[in-house]
Amino acid sequence: MSLSIIVTIALSASTFAIPQFRHPSPPAGLAIPPRGSRTCDISTAKLVLPAGQTALSTPAVAPSTIVLGVGVQNYTCSAAGTYTAAGAVADLYDLSCISKIPAAFNAVQDVVYSAWTLAPPSLKTLGPLVAGYPMLGSHFFITSPSGTGISPVWDYRAMSAKGNTNAFVLAAKVGNIPAPTGAKDVDWLELKSVSGDLATQIYRTDTRGGPPPASCSPGSAPISVKYVSKYWLYGGNVKI
Ligand SMILES: *[C@@H]1O[C@H](CO)[C@@H](O)[C@H](O)[C@H]1NC(C)=O
Repeated sequence: MSLSIIVTIALSASTFAIPQFRHPSPPAGLAIPPRGSRTCDISTAKLVLPAGQTALSTPAVAPSTIVLGVGVQNYTCSAAGTYTAAGAVADLYDLSCISKIPAAFNAVQDVVYSAWTLAPPSLKTLGPLVAGYPMLGSHFFITSPSGTGISPVWDYRAMSAKGNTNAFVLAAKVGNIPAPTGAKDVDWLELKSVSGDLATQIYRTDTRGGPPPASCSPGSAPISVKYVSKYWLYGGNVKI
């Protein structure tokens, strides 16, 4: 998928309201996958973490899903004039088939991030523009179970795992490292499950974008900063 095609589609779609997700037609020769399901086997897919780091552990098993998150990181402006993380919201697209094509898998976050940052602000989701990648679910934050602070959730209940009330994971951070690509991209993370059946471990890697500006004027409005990342989900007990 060339960037110019994506951008052309993005610009021509800008006159619509928030587009609805529609499962793209499967490539000829493949069985028609159920709407929004994982398409290809990923039992040999391997997460490679930067050499020398010790903050993130290397997963010992195969991932259960690999998805591309396309969305925003939210921040509020503190009284001290710095931005504080206030959650995120992202659509999650299946990368199972593209994971079998190394050159495409390694470039997907750059191509989609370019299209996402070029899309006009009126477009709230890349939706059908991420052609060929079924949408499996959503990523968002809710109030933590303790009642204080917020916790990240990956939720497939409305899409690929309709009918399974436990097809989500609410997680807590285990470790983080700076993105190998630099401070313009949000950290890579390892998280572990607190509740839900979707996964026991989650990694955020290959981040593009997302960090806030260095400072803000106290009292200014919250901001949303576009980002893209891969999320690797391990373990869990949900058939996708
Ligand atoms: C983040 O901001 C977006 C708007 O840009 C909003 O739709 C979403 O609900 C916000 N999420 C959180 C957790 O604040």
